[in-house]
Amino acid sequence: EKGGHEYFMLKEIEEQPTALADTLRGHFVDGRIILDEQRLSDQDLRDVDKVFVVACGTAYHSGLVAKYAIEHWTRLPVEVELASEFRYRDPVLDRDTLVVAVSQSGETADTLEAVRHAREQKARVLAVCNTNGAQIPRESDAVLYTHAGPEVGVASTKTFLAQIAAIYLVGLALAQARGTKYPDEVGREFEELCAMPDAVARVLSTVDRVRELGRSLADAKAVLFLGRHVGYPVALEGALKLKELAYMHAEGFAAGELKHGPIALIEESLPVVVVMPSPKGRAVLHAKLLSNISEIQARGARTIVIAEEGDETVRPFADELVEVPAVPTLLQPLVSTVPLQVLAAEIARARGYDVDKPRNLAKSVTVE
Ligand code: BG6
Repeated sequence: EKGGHEYFMLKEIEEQPTALADTLRGHFVDGRIILDEQRLSDQDLRDVDKVFVVACGTAYHSGLVAKYAIEHWTRLPVEVELASEFRYRDPVLDRDTLVVAVSQSGETADTLEAVRHAREQKARVLAVCNTNGAQIPRESDAVLYTHAGPEVGVASTKTFLAQIAAIYLVGLALAQARGTKYPDEVGREFEELCAMPDAVARVLSTVDRVRELGRSLADAKAVLFLGRHVGYPVALEGALKLKELAYMHAEGFAAGELKHGPIALIEESLPVVVVMPSPKGRAVLHAKLLSNISEIQARGARTIVIAEEGDETVRPFADELVEVPAVPTLLQPLVSTVPLQVLAAEIARARGYDVDKPRNLAKSVTVE
């Protein structure tokens, strides 16, 4: 049942191309994005003047990634909030607010309570969920299902990628309704999303090398993760995976914050994972990250760099280099997260831990 793998998580990591393809399938018909249980009209979508994404854990990170795309495509302000914080801080909501509740299980109590609170305030709620008929979709105005299939590993992997794809579809549906993108542009974005299962499959061909790298990190005391722009939530997710699975101190930082504090943590041979942007995308971001890596390398850190294939400029700064295929900037998290998942799982395995059932964690948490 583990498909020949030592643990479910590795099987689920390898299922990511299928999870993405299945989540995208059927959502672009006759030149238009269509959502699933769309009980929101085009007029409702046009009226939206603010978007909140609420979620917990890995699902929260999918929202952080999607913020960049939704704001870029729709010019709507997007706030991403931990469901447990959202609920108790009196957020400003009305009928023109769209709340996107993201939950693999659809049963997470914090997210469910956030949904209930939003609906009491008359906001419209759209659920992104992996489980048919779960409580959160039942209590929402609209639902978009991720079709990642059942996920056994407690730490989410394939549902994270599927969640990003699904929220991107919501962003494109909003852009289409609001007219901030022409129909042919929406179609092009959708096509680019549809190329991602193949790109992720290419990343998976490097799994053995990344596992080996993971084994070499098993004795580290801590690991830091750095990224900018969409690479920042990827860094947060890489760190979360390592905490959950390997019980290791791990932290993700926005690389620009390095000089405002975290650089004090850098010491000889501390592993630092850096998620590089494409050199062909935003050149300024790439240059800034190069300078960040050179600073940490100069202080003796062991740099593990996730970079685009063929990015030669990064080689001198990378003690270890993991290459991922070139994809459009907003889609980079779909490729750059994958090696971080493998790394965390393999470090955990090398330390002798149960990768699928980490201590103290449950797959879905139904208490607040
Ligand atoms: C946590 C799980 O307890 O719940 C995480 O261990 C998960 O993996 C989080 O991301 C949120 O769960 P859900 O089902 O709402 O996506």
